[in-house]
Amino acid sequence: MIKQIWRQRWVFFLVTVALAVAVNGLVSVRPAVAESESAPLPEVESEPEPILVNKAQPLPADYVPLDLRPVDIQFAFAGDSPKRLLSAEAAAALEELFQAAQADGVELVGVSGYRSYERQAEIFAANVRCYGSEEAANRVSARPGESEHQTGLAMDVSSPSVQNQLVEQLAETAAGRWLAANAADFGFIIRYPEGKERITGYQYEPWHLRFVGRTHALQIVGQNLTLEEYLAG
Ligand code: DAL
Ligand code: ZN
Repeated sequence: MIKQIWRQRWVFFLVTVALAVAVNGLVSVRPAVAESESAPLPEVESEPEPILVNKAQPLPADYVPLDLRPVDIQFAFAGDSPKRLLSAEAAAALEELFQAAQADGVELVGVSGYRSYERQAEIFAANVRCYGSEEAANRVSARPGESEHQTGLAMDVSSPSVQNQLVEQLAETAAGRWLAANAADFGFIIRYPEGKERITGYQYEPWHLRFVGRTHALQIVGQNLTLEEYLAG
């Protein structure tokens, strides 16, 4: 009788141990398999996808970035103006870009940053008068809602070597060459490159810097893409 009780205890003990090992095995093996098969990769620090504003994808008239602030750089004009403003992250990146240019002996000036929808409407109307038609004006100037300047992520940049003007000759100066070679390191692209007018809808603008973040900028420039092509890929 006693022998029988001991045998029952042994069987109970062995079954318990076997179950524990089996359950443990399942618990410890399953998550590893599940992770490698279906769980998302761990969040690495990633930059958000750049927003696209162009003739096909306009901003609402009432869109105003919430974090505009003055950029602490040399400007081509004196006095207060919304043209001094950029969205906070773009502002900090542009300040770093200007400091690096200065350290390399390159003088840059800011010309025009943030523009409201209403201000862009005035500029476009002035360009229509100047160029004689909406079509001609729209090759160099955005209609209201279609300008990246309304995003607070774009700054027109020039140099005293071209009298702080927004002209194509900027590209041939030390300042223009420096921008083309280095802007991406600070998260900016030259948004309307030469030879891509049919994709961007605008003539070459070696002065128009658009902040997209360093990772995106390096890929866009490295692959010689426009923002439209990059986002479609
Ligand atoms: N010049 C650029 C296209 C603008 O007007 O926003
Ligand atoms: Zn511009």
